[in-house]
Amino acid sequence: MSEATPNACGCESQPSSITLLVDNKAGEGLSCVHGFAAWIKIRDRRILFDTGQKGVILNNAKVLGIDLAEAEALVMSHGHDDHTDNLADFYALNPSVPMYCGANIEYDRFCCRPGEDAKNWSPPPSAKRILSNLSFLGLRHVLDQPLYLLPGVGVTGPVPRLTDFEDVGDALFLDAEATKPDPVSDDMSMWFETDKGLVILLGCCHSGIVNTVNYIRQVSGIEKISGIVGGMHLIRASEYRMNKTLEAMKGWKMDWMIPCHCTGDNAMQQMQDYLGKDIVSFGHTGIVIDLGEMPRNTTGAYYEMCHGGCGCGGGCGCA
Ligand SMILES: [Fe+2]
Ligand SMILES: [Fe+2]
Repeated sequence: MSEATPNACGCESQPSSITLLVDNKAGEGLSCVHGFAAWIKIRDRRILFDTGQKGVILNNAKVLGIDLAEAEALVMSHGHDDHTDNLADFYALNPSVPMYCGANIEYDRFCCRPGEDAKNWSPPPSAKRILSNLSFLGLRHVLDQPLYLLPGVGVTGPVPRLTDFEDVGDALFLDAEATKPDPVSDDMSMWFETDKGLVILLGCCHSGIVNTVNYIRQVSGIEKISGIVGGMHLIRASEYRMNKTLEAMKGWKMDWMIPCHCTGDNAMQQMQDYLGKDIVSFGHTGIVIDLGEMPRNTTGAYYEMCHGGCGCGGGCGCA
């Protein structure tokens, strides 16, 4: 990664990137667990996306030299325990950091696959306590529409479910008796408007990858997709869904794709076979995705995390 270089105005041009902190597969010297978290660096700004589970984020951040206390915001993809389990550890370091999430992230939810005992995928009690504290402190921002945190850095909010071949990806319910289906309506993803096109970051993508990509293209007004990284929960996808998904993916003409977390080994292999090894590689902790030069605010538009005129965080007024 290149060194920061000073601009004429004195603010620094710094590289932007996404680092996979928690994933089901481990990079060298790092830990893994079924879960997901990513560290986002936009010039001098830092955002955490999800927290993973079982403390893996703390170990991997240390090994990678990432200081979680530098985070200025937390974006939560949804409420499942493999994304929310380490909320309390994160907020022990960052008590006043705002959280951006979907409605009802705190709900109890269960995975009730036929012939198996119901699995409790609810946020753990420690995470629920944090969620209610954040509401009390006015730090929990519930999105009902897309939001730009910084220029070119978007959070989808709820994703419209429009395709006829996608569903939440599993036997998900709001009760252990499997009587109330869980639409995981809190599911959100992020996007980054890079000079090579859109980079899309997913948690579990329970809204469906095709729904999510279509929505981000529509909201951003950008067609070109540079790459996609994250969990797609296609582990139990039907052949019909898989075929329709692969067909759509081919049409996106991406430069790269890094499926990981809950995508499922079989689905990941099918993606690689269909789209090619030069496009699809499998994710693991420690992967760093270069976002290049991210856009600055040349329009004076409102951005949630911008505290200067330019969106670089320096308040220097450059564009
Ligand atoms: Fe997950
Ligand atoms: Fe999930």
